[in-house]
Amino acid sequence: FRTAAVIPAAGRGVRLGPGAPKALRALNGTPMLIHAVRAMAASRAVSLVVVVAPPDGATEVKNLLAEHALPDRTDFLVVPGGETRQESVRLGLAALPQGIDVVLVHDAARPLVPVDTVDAVIEAVRDGAPAVVPALPLADTVKEVEPHADGTPEPVLATPDRARLRAVQTPQGFDHATLVRAHESVTGDVTDDASMVERLGLKVVVVPGHEEAFKVTRPLDLVLAEAVLARRRA
Ligand code: CTP
Ligand code: MG
Repeated sequence: FRTAAVIPAAGRGVRLGPGAPKALRALNGTPMLIHAVRAMAASRAVSLVVVVAPPDGATEVKNLLAEHALPDRTDFLVVPGGETRQESVRLGLAALPQGIDVVLVHDAARPLVPVDTVDAVIEAVRDGAPAVVPALPLADTVKEVEPHADGTPEPVLATPDRARLRAVQTPQGFDHATLVRAHESVTGDVTDDASMVERLGLKVVVVPGHEEAFKVTRPLDLVLAEAVLARRRA
């Protein structure tokens, strides 16, 4: 098996607030993207990492990869991203060379995922699953509502059984040909890659996620990420 990781890193990070594109923001002095690249390259199975850079930031990302220490056994490519995450992933997939069997798609915004989680996802794909997602049980109860954009109270429509729900993380792992087919045939709004494989009617399986694989989305998440890094160094 040859395994590659595609890292969509082209988002602005609107919810994080004004500043550089989210993936280029520093966590304890090192750009979030570099942490995410190291997290993928930490797996001995990953031989290629494709970074999907902000559309006007490919040169800057190439320079960052050159400046930071990364494993010699891994190859790195940088391509410019698109308007949506889905488009960015598609552009990353298009850059993959022949001979890749397994593809991971990993958000740059999940810089601290442990290597054991990465390896568990890869192993489940190698064992025959066309799509694998790491996920955790929810801490909060979830309500389905009728959304109100104007801030007035929203009516509750249903309360799904929490025990059957999972919060999904990345890296998500795929049989390469299956993910390419999903990206060719599925259109419309999706927030992860596995849902596109679900729409093809194929089975997606869940493996245990990790609390340190949380997504840096809002300012409080930066505080948590820096605390996790400080704890690791202690
Ligand atoms: N992403 C991307 N291309 C886009 C949009 C998002 O590559 N056009 C990437 C982000 O860089 C991030 C991942 O997809 O690594 C998950 O997206 P999200 O956490 O939503 O990041 P942003 O879209 O940057 O943040 P926001 O939605 O707050 O603007
Ligand atoms: Mg986004």
